[in-house]
Amino acid sequence: MLTQSNITDELAEVEASSSETDAEATVRWAVDRYRDRLALALSLGIEDTLLLHLVADAARSLPAEQRPRAFVLDTGRLPEESYQLLESARDRYAIRIETYFPDAAAVEAIYRDAGPLSFYASVEARKHCCHVRKVEPLARALSGAEAWMTGLRRAQSPTRGSTERLDLDERGLVKVSPLAHLSDEETWALAKQHDVLVHALHRRGYPSIGCAPCTRAVQPGEPTRAGRWWWEDPTLKECGLHTGGQK
Ligand code: ADX
Ligand code: SF4
Repeated sequence: MLTQSNITDELAEVEASSSETDAEATVRWAVDRYRDRLALALSLGIEDTLLLHLVADAARSLPAEQRPRAFVLDTGRLPEESYQLLESARDRYAIRIETYFPDAAAVEAIYRDAGPLSFYASVEARKHCCHVRKVEPLARALSGAEAWMTGLRRAQSPTRGSTERLDLDERGLVKVSPLAHLSDEETWALAKQHDVLVHALHRRGYPSIGCAPCTRAVQPGEPTRAGRWWWEDPTLKECGLHTGGQK
């Protein structure tokens, strides 16, 4: 078992040895290195369908039980199009895709105490909803994993400007974000090159895919995540998945 400082050294070595835009090399390294101890977090947006494709490709020669798994955190408020994409992904790829739901009693408490639309009332209420529906289930989804992969990119928002391709998260898990340095254009070009699945809402003006009541289409030229929690300050818009669960 590697120690934390060994991992940090190894990550620095891998990071230094590949080009900043070489997303495919990072995916291949993670699949070879972690195999079934790697879990891909799928929100079903273009970054994640691209990564699913690259992971499935890199894992092709591995026995089924050694392949990485993927997971969707089903908040209970996802748009219908996300379920359609999930069906297509299950049909197309030989990668196990798991779904994690929020704790039922915690959701019932939100409805009872604050109401089903409480996330519009305050940032605190919105973050509490994200915590119950996403952050807590993430901890379960990552159980048994040594590494996880995300579609985070620096260009997505001011809160993501220092995202590293390889990092250690607050749990001590290796966090791999192979697309960290890619622009919107580079991401879409790579997705087109591999002919990956495309979420139907991307074609209707949604660059970022989230929960139905908290995500809307953006105007041409608006930032990628402008349609997520559009009523909040853009420098603070995170759900807690990538900020150590901080509320
Ligand atoms: S977030 O604020 O919802 O986390 P975004 O939609 O930009 O932001 O997602 C960033 C990354 O977090 C995705 O590429 C994916 O790896 C992970 N992620 C986000 N939402 C989910 C979800 N519902 N299920 C699984 N992973 C998710
Ligand atoms: Fe709740 Fe909206 Fe966060 Fe989804 S995005 S978990 S509905 S506050």
